[in-house]
Amino acid sequence: MESKASAPGKAILFGEHAVVFGQPALAFAVDKRAYVSLKKSSGKKSTIKSTDLNFEASFDLSRGIDILKNQKKGIVNYILGALSLGHDGSPLEIELSMEMPVGAGMGSSAAVTVATLAAAYNLHHKNIDISNLAKKAHEVELMVQGAASPLDTAVSTNGGLVYLDENSEISSHQAYLDNSLILGYTSYRGNTGEMVDSVRKRRERFPQIMDPVIESVGNITRQALKLLSQDNLDKEYLGELMNINQGLLDSMGVNTPELSRMIFNARKYGALGSKITGAGGGGSIIAFCPGKLEEVLHILQKTDSAINADFSKEGVLIHHK
Ligand code: MEV
Repeated sequence: MESKASAPGKAILFGEHAVVFGQPALAFAVDKRAYVSLKKSSGKKSTIKSTDLNFEASFDLSRGIDILKNQKKGIVNYILGALSLGHDGSPLEIELSMEMPVGAGMGSSAAVTVATLAAAYNLHHKNIDISNLAKKAHEVELMVQGAASPLDTAVSTNGGLVYLDENSEISSHQAYLDNSLILGYTSYRGNTGEMVDSVRKRRERFPQIMDPVIESVGNITRQALKLLSQDNLDKEYLGELMNINQGLLDSMGVNTPELSRMIFNARKYGALGSKITGAGGGGSIIAFCPGKLEEVLHILQKTDSAINADFSKEGVLIHHK
């Protein structure tokens, strides 16, 4: 028997870092997905293959990773974590296919975790509702990486636009952002833990300066949510909110010359707004480019990688043959 599921990656529109200090955050599912298929195996060990990521490994699920023929251990840990909650340990043939880059701040680990859990529950004919699936996936993230906000796993499970409020409650929202978003990513990934820690230290050194910065980011996120819920989106206003948010992220110390180059190039070639998305210190930017998608993609791809990441309503999906 084979079971296949997929889940989308995410991008944070507003509120990264401020969310760590109790402010809200707003993120959306992108139309790039992780697909995980699980097949019961007659062999002694489980195997995992990913043509997209160019890796292959075999391991014993009850004992952890045995043989791993390359460097993609990170993502395998999320698969093993998810299987430890959703599978009985018997050997599997696992196939992973990825439409998004790994380690670029697009929530690839959350997407893989959610897809693996959904495929495992489906393999065992167990029903699990969306909110429990999101909780389990967050548990896996905590298990594997130590600290994580529930935002990524909630977006990968629910799809669409997700708001994490001041009490860490998740709600889903509508947005009318048709085909206007670009994600640009540097080859270097910032370390999320280190970036969060450096913002915390800056806040401790300059509380009277950094507290209002963090609050301002929260206010931007709240305003953005209101704006996005309106039928007739004021695009310039949204772009300006992104640019102000970027200035505040810069003041938190998470910008880099590479991210800045992409951010300003995007604006120069027509983006109404552009900012870091995720932890910064490397990683990705997001640009809002209604009517200027090709121009902005072209300029970003000259020096870095960039993709058109459209908004996706679809969250986790089971793929029946
Ligand atoms: C990282 O994608 C977003 C941060 O706000 C950290 C977090 O929310 O856990 C920087």
